[in-house]
Amino acid sequence: MCGIVGYIGKGNAQEIILDGLEKLEYRGYDSAGIAIINKSGLKTRKKVGRLSNLANDLKGDPINGDVGIGHTRWATHGAPSDVNSHPHTNMSGSIAVVHNGIIENYRSIKEELVGLGYSFKSETDTEVVAHLIDYYYSGDLLEAVFKAEDRLKGAYALAVIAKDNPDEIVAIRHESPLILGIGEGEYFVASDIPAILKYTNKMVYLENKDTIRLTRNGYKVYGPDRMEVKRDINTIMWDVEAASKEGFEHFMLKEIYQQPKAIDETLFRRLDDDGNIYLENIKITKEDLNNIDRIYIVGCGTAYHAGLIGRYLFQTFLKVNTITDIASEFRYNEHYIDERTLVVVVSQSGETLDTLTALKDAREKGARILSITNVVGSSVSRESNDVFYTWAGPEIAVASTKAYTTQLVAFYMLALHFGRLKGTLEDECYDEILEELKGLSQKVQLTLESVNESSKEVANKIKDNHSLFYLGRGLDYNTALEGALKLKEISYIHTEAFPAGELKHGTIALIEEGTPVIAIATQQGLYDKMVSNIKEVKARGAFVIGVTRHRNRDLEQVCDYTIFIEESFNIFMPLLSVIFPQLLSYHTSLIKGNDVDKPRNLAKSVTVE
Ligand code: M6R
Repeated sequence: MCGIVGYIGKGNAQEIILDGLEKLEYRGYDSAGIAIINKSGLKTRKKVGRLSNLANDLKGDPINGDVGIGHTRWATHGAPSDVNSHPHTNMSGSIAVVHNGIIENYRSIKEELVGLGYSFKSETDTEVVAHLIDYYYSGDLLEAVFKAEDRLKGAYALAVIAKDNPDEIVAIRHESPLILGIGEGEYFVASDIPAILKYTNKMVYLENKDTIRLTRNGYKVYGPDRMEVKRDINTIMWDVEAASKEGFEHFMLKEIYQQPKAIDETLFRRLDDDGNIYLENIKITKEDLNNIDRIYIVGCGTAYHAGLIGRYLFQTFLKVNTITDIASEFRYNEHYIDERTLVVVVSQSGETLDTLTALKDAREKGARILSITNVVGSSVSRESNDVFYTWAGPEIAVASTKAYTTQLVAFYMLALHFGRLKGTLEDECYDEILEELKGLSQKVQLTLESVNESSKEVANKIKDNHSLFYLGRGLDYNTALEGALKLKEISYIHTEAFPAGELKHGTIALIEEGTPVIAIATQQGLYDKMVSNIKEVKARGAFVIGVTRHRNRDLEQVCDYTIFIEESFNIFMPLLSVIFPQLLSYHTSLIKGNDVDKPRNLAKSVTVE
């Protein structure tokens, strides 16, 4: 959470930093601030609320200068306010710091600094860093940052400037993401690629405990031992368009509509000349698979939901006991992890701290780590033995959509490939299932076209409700969970997903006249049971919206409103049935006047525990 940007060069720092912060607002949008060095010193400006508040303020009274840092905040320590906004400075205002992460031992450092006569203005953990650098500063900013860093515990990406060192930015990365951008006579530092992609596509992914010193003439990277190191320069292949709305009203809508393309990118790039699956970054052999006796899948939120479907696929095609767990709970649950365990880590951003921590715990216990992530060079990918990159392109909206469907494609491909390799899936089945998978993006496209209008109609019907239920059985229950999360996070309607058969054990008491219930009924073997469960809630007054395949026309007799979607094998229905819940959440949020792409209290990338 929180986004940081730094710039040094010949350009207008204010403009470049504000532009970068706008692209990072998905990481947090409680407040924003900027610090720039110019001939009259180090100037800081911060404003609570959206970045536009800060931008408007600067419009009337700009800060000139060609070196500076900026921040967009997702509050952790201290409520959103002007004073708690970053950058934070030392008492004289000559050193400014922006921070993404949490300084865990800030209280003890603060006590010590207060004892030394330092006074604090904010309630944040970050302010200690500014005072600590001040304490160690004697003209050499890099040296002072090193000394301050020796005292810090926690997760942090920091960027620092000082009035008396007007030609440099020092930045450091530990557990929170940070990249360096290399332009023509100008250098950038940012939490994520889109912030600076407009200016350069040459990027260095910093490693943990890397420190960088940027000047107008170049940059140096220092490794964890503080010795200078060389890091690879990567050329980013996506263009600025990929990180823009491209005519759509919101990123979320664009990303929903990009799904057919994202699915194809993820799938077709990994087919060999014979049309079979070829996984370039995965070195797991038949022998390795025979040695694996347990699989854990971990992730948070939507990634966790994709993992629930992954579990079904691994158990079906690999015949290996598989457990899917929420990453933030994984380390507290009793698990049996050793060299025979495969841990599959799912994370769009590859930076979610809960997921990263689970990964490291499992690796320490000897597990082999296979990650599914959308971000090349992310922390999760770097810490893994094998990586499956989803090729969804940048996902900017907080509500995850194309990341989810491409994560499902990753699981289909992994399960098919491993099943065949291990011999637990016959060639004939492999061919038949893979053939169907190859045509799925077209079915997603048709579903998108056919359910858009009905999702608007249903959005109008449910928009004023305070609670809503999703029901499903088997794989449909997993879609129900994802649908409920989507609706909660952007429409703010309290939505819960239940296995349809579980209702009668308590939850059915909540159903009253007019309660909306969305019943996903695409799993053919479970269809009749779902119909019975729908009748149960109907009999108690529920307003039921059914989502099923075209062939189940009879569902119209049972539901108040029925959505028909394309046909496929049972295992692929989650890829099709999730489209309606995605569009429904989008339209409900829109009708309610919510900020679709930046829902309240949330951030895209959760880099705190
Ligand atoms: O980047 P990650 O996939 O690790 O993010 C995990 C969750 O924070 C994320 O899926 C979240 O639940 C989404 N906002 C849901 O739409």
